[in-house]
Amino acid sequence: MTTLIPVSLSGGHAYDIHLGTDLLAGAGRAIAGVARSKRCVIISQPRISTLYAQPLTASLEAAGFTVLATINFPDGEEAKHLETLTNLSQALYALPEPLDRKTVVIALGGGVVGDVAGFLAAIYLRGLDFVQIPTTLLALVDSSVGGKTGVDLNAGKNLVGAFHQPRLVLADLSLLQTLPARDFLSGLAEVVKYGVIADPEILTFMAEKSGLILARDTDCLQHLVKRSCQIKAEVVVADEREENGTRAILNFGHTIGHALEGATNYARYLHGEAVAIGMVSACCIGEAAGVTPPVVRETLVALLQQLGLPIALPADKDDTTLMALTAQDKKAVAGQARFVLADALGHVKLQEGIAQTTALAGLQQQRRVYGESK
Ligand SMILES: NC(=O)c1ccc[n+]([C@@H]2O[C@H](COP(=O)([O-])OP(=O)(O)OC[C@H]3O[C@@H](n4cnc5c(N)ncnc54)[C@H](O)[C@@H]3O)[C@@H](O)[C@H]2O)c1
Ligand SMILES: [Zn+2]
Repeated sequence: MTTLIPVSLSGGHAYDIHLGTDLLAGAGRAIAGVARSKRCVIISQPRISTLYAQPLTASLEAAGFTVLATINFPDGEEAKHLETLTNLSQALYALPEPLDRKTVVIALGGGVVGDVAGFLAAIYLRGLDFVQIPTTLLALVDSSVGGKTGVDLNAGKNLVGAFHQPRLVLADLSLLQTLPARDFLSGLAEVVKYGVIADPEILTFMAEKSGLILARDTDCLQHLVKRSCQIKAEVVVADEREENGTRAILNFGHTIGHALEGATNYARYLHGEAVAIGMVSACCIGEAAGVTPPVVRETLVALLQQLGLPIALPADKDDTTLMALTAQDKKAVAGQARFVLADALGHVKLQEGIAQTTALAGLQQQRRVYGESK
């Protein structure tokens, strides 16, 4: 059964997330319901394309679409670069049939494909229609909701981009069965985040059903992805273009998380792994600041350990280095790190002006209690 999750954006940008299993076979029909043209282009990466482009194409053709091309770009965050956009734009231009603004760009892949294909759809011919088919857990619960698209510069991640909302997100849980275990687990960290920031029931559910969740039981995943998308959609609708501070709560665990990724050149941790450690940091810093009750950290840590996600800071990156990196975080204001801190299980707030010494005390506490990783 397909569940529809509305993302009620203003200005004609509202759309639905279609969530369920075995949705690829009906993708053509679902996309036909929102498309303004019967011409489309699939943007993907080689591994994902090998697995899913053929059934997607068959479904699109059965619904009367002409698939003008399936264009793959290389795997990995390194490909999330302006050069890839240039190459993809040129590939679109070289197609035998010229595109028009109603042509549908279909992103088939994880967060990297969604961000790149979404940005391509935002800027090619000043904007093409866009549909997302997320294939990673992270993309399902996070990157495919909210309309942020873009690429990295050498100076930093996601520095060039645009808001471009899809006309539809097809969230097919069946596609997760082929996802590498480490990527799956990394996505679960973002689901844990939604529990801490907005809904403690998610945490209870995950603790009770961890075995089934790790075995990728579709009923469990359906529940978790649904709640995650609902929470993200609610936050995004309240702050569509990240202007009033509401979206900042989604950044829980990300201040130290991003610092960890940066300190290790994005090579050691997957994003969710860094966020898992960073969420523990946020709890410890929150306790040092007198904001966070210890039960938040205790619940969080028990769950992360049960799932097999990391909680310890790395031995070779000291706290001062990490704190210096938080000052460069693009969400920092005037060089001062801001932290999203939990004041109860299921509730967080953006806290300005946390003294450096308080933050360092929190990180030291994390190392003392949970040790250090190699
Ligand atoms: N736009 C946003 O709001 C937003 C939010 C969070 C993250 N992001 C971005 O998302 C990106 C990370 O996304 P990700 O974690 O999905 O990584 P990813 O897109 O790189 O995918 C991870 C790996 O899994 C493979 N893969 C994907 N789906 C598969 C499947 N079903 N079966 C087998 N292999 C599969 C990919 O080929 C890749 O090697 C980052 O660039 C990050 O900045 C964007
Ligand atoms: Zn994240």
